[in-house]
Amino acid sequence: MRVASNQLKHMSDFYHRELSGIYNEGEINAMYQNAISHYLHIPYAEVHKHANDKINQSELILIYDCCKKLREQQPLQYILGEAFFYGLSFNVNAHVLIPRPETEELVDIVVKNCTGKKTFLDIGTGSGCIAISLAKYNKQFRVTACDVSDQALQTAALNAQKNKVELKFTETNVLNKTEFETQVNGSFDVIVSNPPYIKEEEATQLLPNVMAHEPHLALFVKGSDDILFYRKITDICSTKLNSGGSLYFELNPLTAQKVLEYVEASGQFKTCELLKDLSGKTRFLQATKH
Ligand SMILES: C[S@@+](CC[C@H](N)C(=O)[O-])C[C@H]1O[C@@H](n2cnc3c(N)ncnc32)[C@H](O)[C@@H]1O
Repeated sequence: MRVASNQLKHMSDFYHRELSGIYNEGEINAMYQNAISHYLHIPYAEVHKHANDKINQSELILIYDCCKKLREQQPLQYILGEAFFYGLSFNVNAHVLIPRPETEELVDIVVKNCTGKKTFLDIGTGSGCIAISLAKYNKQFRVTACDVSDQALQTAALNAQKNKVELKFTETNVLNKTEFETQVNGSFDVIVSNPPYIKEEEATQLLPNVMAHEPHLALFVKGSDDILFYRKITDICSTKLNSGGSLYFELNPLTAQKVLEYVEASGQFKTCELLKDLSGKTRFLQATKH
């Protein structure tokens, strides 16, 4: 792996040469621009204007190492330690899922429909992307974020500081109703969750870089019940969701109908509907409690 000179245009050539065959042209351009923007503090849209700039040796090493890791198919966000979500910057690491664009759509649905609500609970917060975006969007929202992973909660707490919002964090296991009800205080106007929803036998269908680098605790549901988390969270709504309150789920399109049927059959909700994401896949559930 050799770079022709320390001019940025040669670094761009280097990325294209080293990464073609692994990623397509558009992906390589985006990765290169993101890396340059991150390491050299240049706005993403202005990277192309700096093609003739020269970089110093330590910058060259950082950008070169990033390319080496991309060749090994490490996700760019983990290499840079940063992901953008809902206009905010989040620290990410091996303990938290990289926030996805569909989840931004979920946040958008929640903020548009919950203007009069006060208290929010995000179950399985990971990087804190949902909870922190809600708290940042509306200073009146009082947000609690919980996760079973202590390391995910530490990352989420750092992200709250970074984005200058105050949240309450609770370490708890949503699959254990008794533990959950004692550890998460009070009840909420809105409960939102993007829980683990991939069955372990579906692991072979995941992209190799997701499988190798993203936390399995965030991805997989153990055992044969693929809607386990959705059932447990729905059951918890009996005590933790206020009357007239709203439940929002991000869904696996493959099991969306099954989740809808479970939520309706619980008898707790006066309305319950499935919503599609921008790509037309059934992706979200929205329900309002009696
Ligand atoms: C799909 S990730 C979602 C992360 C983040 N909310 C997002 O949308 O990017 C699911 C999260 O649920 C957490 N989790 C897994 N099992 C859990 C459990 N039993 N109780 C609470 N949280 C759990 C994982 O640690 C992970 O952070």
